Amino acid sequence: MKTLDLAKPAALHERPRPWRDNLDAWFDRLLTSPAVYRWTVSNPLTRWITRRRAQQVFDLMAGFVHTQVLLACVRLRILELVCESPRTLGELAAKCQVPASALQRLLESARALRLLELRGQGRYGLGPLGAPVAGHPGLRAMIEHHAVLYQDLQDPVALLLDQLPQGQMAKYWPYAEAESGTTGERRWQPDQVSRYSNLMSASQPFVVDEVIATYAFTDHRCVLDVGGGQGTFVSKLARHAPHLQLKLFDLPQVAALAQASFEQQGLAERASAVGGDFLRDPLPVGADLITLVRVAHDHPDEHVKAILRAIHAALPLGGTLLLAEPMAQAAGEAPLGDAYFHFYLLAMGSGRLRSVQELTEMLSEVGFSNVEPLPNPMPMQTRILVARKSKCLP
Ligand SMILES: C[S@@+](CC[C@H](N)C(=O)[O-])C[C@H]1O[C@@H](n2cnc3c(N)ncnc32)[C@H](O)[C@@H]1O
Repeated sequence: MKTLDLAKPAALHERPRPWRDNLDAWFDRLLTSPAVYRWTVSNPLTRWITRRRAQQVFDLMAGFVHTQVLLACVRLRILELVCESPRTLGELAAKCQVPASALQRLLESARALRLLELRGQGRYGLGPLGAPVAGHPGLRAMIEHHAVLYQDLQDPVALLLDQLPQGQMAKYWPYAEAESGTTGERRWQPDQVSRYSNLMSASQPFVVDEVIATYAFTDHRCVLDVGGGQGTFVSKLARHAPHLQLKLFDLPQVAALAQASFEQQGLAERASAVGGDFLRDPLPVGADLITLVRVAHDHPDEHVKAILRAIHAALPLGGTLLLAEPMAQAAGEAPLGDAYFHFYLLAMGSGRLRSVQELTEMLSEVGFSNVEPLPNPMPMQTRILVARKSKCLP
């Protein structure tokens, strides 16, 4: 059985509060009582609360159907088709080559989920939740990719007990499979590598936009993006901050894709990619800012510390690390994508979602100081931490 890193339980330091436990227990009994349910439904003042709660539970229960409605819309390109112009059932049935009687169920389901809306004369148009999906190829690529995750989630308890004979997600992410000890092999088929690199490249704009909107690169001279994939972030940064020199480090097969992309975009004078393994090889030196975007959460604690130590060693005194990835909610914060990322990374078989506090502690442990979270517009997509190297380690 794989050993997974444990998250630190929140608020362990809190003193026991028996009165609070008793109050919570009383409230739990109240909320689960059929008599109280009947009373709240019959009372016009409380009915709306019960209705809203019932709707939320129903949505939770039906979530897997909703996801498949979304996937069918993406596979049949329905959102893009109605984005071009509103269309009738007959027009969509002809375009998608699905019988109208079956397609109508999909369109009505998508309408109920606000992916579509009716625009008069029986035409379907883009709904408020369909618009972001139609507008972002990266989102559609992730929705398609979830078919892989969905296979591993069919028996969530078997997944938790590590009893799945062949995890599809672990196969999809070959470096995660290697780190979990299943293969140990670090040379993978080019199609395996380009498949996940393409997906990362397609979904990266969400994260890149957050980083660029939040952090000013003006004071830096040279940036190294560690685990930078095909170079989507580096390419965007090259255009955003023309004074910067840029480097990228990733596994050799991925770095080769990035290098080819820099050359194709005419960026080779300012951007270069170096291939290597950040768990074994030193990182290129010379950058005064190193970025680590959506990398740490893929790896177990000991490996993350090794990567952070390598970054610390590669930075000059006064250099900065910028770490961006989804992070776990702290007690009292609004829930973001925690359930999704916990299970995504579990299925992947390596790494875990960490809180700001856990990452801050890891950064301090390997020698970084002044660790600071930067508030960004869309924390669901990513959160951002910056840390400084203020001393050299022995
Ligand atoms: C989840 S992807 C993120 C890519 C990119 N930063 C982004 O946000 O789209 C993680 C990246 O880390 C790279 N990686 C994984 N293990 C590595 C290793 N041992 N050495 C170097 N790079 C590695 C992968 O090839 C991949 O490009």
